Amino acid sequence: MKLSTLLGLAGASSYTAAQNSTSYNTTLNSTFGTAGPRNVRIDTGTYGPQVEEFHYYYDQWPIGLAVSKQGRVFTCYTRGTYAYTLGEVVNTTAEAAYPSLALNTPPGGLYNVTNGIQFGSNDPNSFISVQALYITPDDTLWVLDTGRPTINESQAPSIPYAAPGGPKLVAINLTTNSIARTYTLPPNVHYPDSYMNDLRFDMRPNVTESGGGIAYIVDSSNEGRTGFIMIDLGTGESWRQLSQHPSTLRVNEDVPSYQGIPFYSRQKGSPLGFQQEGLDGAELSLYGDIIYYSPLTSDYLFSIETRYLRANPSNDTLSAKRAFDNVKNLGQRGGNANGFSSDNLGNVYMLMPNQNAIYIYNSTTLQAKPYVRDPRIVWPDSANVGFDGYIYFNINQLPYQPDWNDGNDGRQYPGLILRSRLPDGANKNMILGPST
Ligand SMILES: *[C@@H]1O[C@H](CO)[C@@H](O)[C@H](O)[C@H]1NC(C)=O
Ligand SMILES: *[C@@H]1O[C@H](CO)[C@@H](O)[C@H](O)[C@H]1NC(C)=O
Ligand SMILES: *[C@@H]1O[C@H](CO)[C@@H](O)[C@H](O)[C@H]1NC(C)=O
Ligand SMILES: *[C@@H]1O[C@H](CO)[C@@H](O)[C@H](O)[C@H]1NC(C)=O
Ligand SMILES: *[C@@H]1O[C@H](CO)[C@@H](O)[C@H](O)[C@H]1NC(C)=O
Ligand SMILES: *[C@@H]1O[C@H](CO)[C@@H](O)[C@H](O)[C@H]1NC(C)=O
Ligand SMILES: *[C@@H]1O[C@H](CO)[C@@H](O)[C@H](O)[C@H]1NC(C)=O
Ligand SMILES: *[C@@H]1O[C@H](CO)[C@@H](O)[C@H](O)[C@H]1NC(C)=O
Ligand SMILES: *[C@@H]1O[C@H](CO)[C@@H](O)[C@H](O)[C@H]1NC(C)=O
Ligand SMILES: *[C@@H]1O[C@H](CO)[C@@H](O)[C@H](O)[C@H]1NC(C)=O
Repeated sequence: MKLSTLLGLAGASSYTAAQNSTSYNTTLNSTFGTAGPRNVRIDTGTYGPQVEEFHYYYDQWPIGLAVSKQGRVFTCYTRGTYAYTLGEVVNTTAEAAYPSLALNTPPGGLYNVTNGIQFGSNDPNSFISVQALYITPDDTLWVLDTGRPTINESQAPSIPYAAPGGPKLVAINLTTNSIARTYTLPPNVHYPDSYMNDLRFDMRPNVTESGGGIAYIVDSSNEGRTGFIMIDLGTGESWRQLSQHPSTLRVNEDVPSYQGIPFYSRQKGSPLGFQQEGLDGAELSLYGDIIYYSPLTSDYLFSIETRYLRANPSNDTLSAKRAFDNVKNLGQRGGNANGFSSDNLGNVYMLMPNQNAIYIYNSTTLQAKPYVRDPRIVWPDSANVGFDGYIYFNINQLPYQPDWNDGNDGRQYPGLILRSRLPDGANKNMILGPST
């Protein structure tokens, strides 16, 4: 289908009401009918608003995405062997390196070996392996580079340790398509085994003394030193909170099911294992006072008031203890969640890879409720609310990647960007933008 056709769709919303203890909706969504002798109930695998196929990936498997005010769509890809790690959608079936191919560390320069230990590139001026993207209300594109590519993806894969300079947060001005600022992190904030997985922003001048806004970044470290990394965007100073707090650690020996198949990690050259990712997604409340988060491998949703994360441990020696003491366990939500999104009504969207679905957490009803479910949601990896009232999400078939399947690549192009209308006319949350 052509892009123009897709954009022209009305996107009628058939959003369904929350279920509560007194109304378990048995018709959401099963149907009756069978080729057999009796009329039996069948799970259709779908509910919620229409899901549109917005973009098809044919060249590289995506990880993150972000949609700009003008409707430009940016995508990123972890490396590896890929020629570029940050791209822009150019038409329904293709993307191109953004802002330029030259800004990508060449595949041959991704890592070094020192004393037998692999270290990622330390180059602060090129993109090494971009994991996540975010566009703030002022239309700045924020690029999160882990500095930790995957080496040898199909054969005994490894992820080199980070070298300071490599892991970074880069701001790109979408008017000039040029880098406005680069933030690197010292080794006591970003450890060699840290892995920055996602990011959120509060750009309001009153959240930091510098007035430049703050970035909240999750460290999902497979090696286990998980937590939050904050950057004061005015001063460039960074610090950690909730390091290795149980709410940020992976759940030991988690065995999720994907497409009805129990999942164990089968990595070539390694013994049978389990998902290792800790804290890998977070989302701010409508007014930025609370952050919701969870490790990939947990069925539990957690939250903390953001003031505990903003406290800088360099001059507040009780700040780490105070943050630990103020984590809230909001209970189970109905499965693992791989990332979050939000809107201007305060809905917190949770990407549910076990259920091929997106759920919403409602902080008034204290419950998770269904938003959208579709058999095409084969590993929703990143979601982004555009300025146009749609939620866009990447589908990348991750459970079929060689890294998890003894080196065999079971993924099949195309990957997808799907989108659906937000409920109740919701749109992007502009409250957390800089004052104008
Ligand atoms: C539960 O849902 C039903 C049907 O939507 C509604 O009538 C009822 O008021 C709800 N109860 C609560 C406690 O929200
Ligand atoms: C249950 O789902 C059906 C089908 O989506 C819908 O028509 C109905 O309004 C829902 N009922 C409640 C109580 O939400
Ligand atoms: C239920 O599933 C059927 C078949 O996939 C679909 O046509 C219908 O729109 C779904 N209903 C809801 C409320 O999502
Ligand atoms: C999409 O862009 C790619 C790369 O520029 C080009 O090769 C392809 O022909 C384009 N496809 C369409 C349908 O325009
Ligand atoms: C590898 O080490 C050499 C020598 O120290 C250095 O010049 C080069 O930038 C390093 N390459 C990477 C990818 O870090
Ligand atoms: C890639 O894996 C193969 C097979 O285990 C191994 O021989 C080779 O050394 C690895 N290469 C790197 C760069 O780690
Ligand atoms: C981006 O660049 C344009 C043109 O120089 C400028 O007007 C705009 O303020 C910049 N955006 C931000 C967020 O700084
Ligand atoms: C910043 O100001 C807004 C009102 O403009 C207020 O609602 C919010 O609580 C303030 N945030 C902080 C951290 O003081
Ligand atoms: C820490 O320093 C900041 C400014 O650098 C200051 O605003 C804050 O009050 C200090 N906190 C403590 C507990 O001293
Ligand atoms: C959360 O649930 C409450 C109570 O049902 C409702 O009033 C509110 O609109 C819901 N929040 C959102 C963002 O839909």
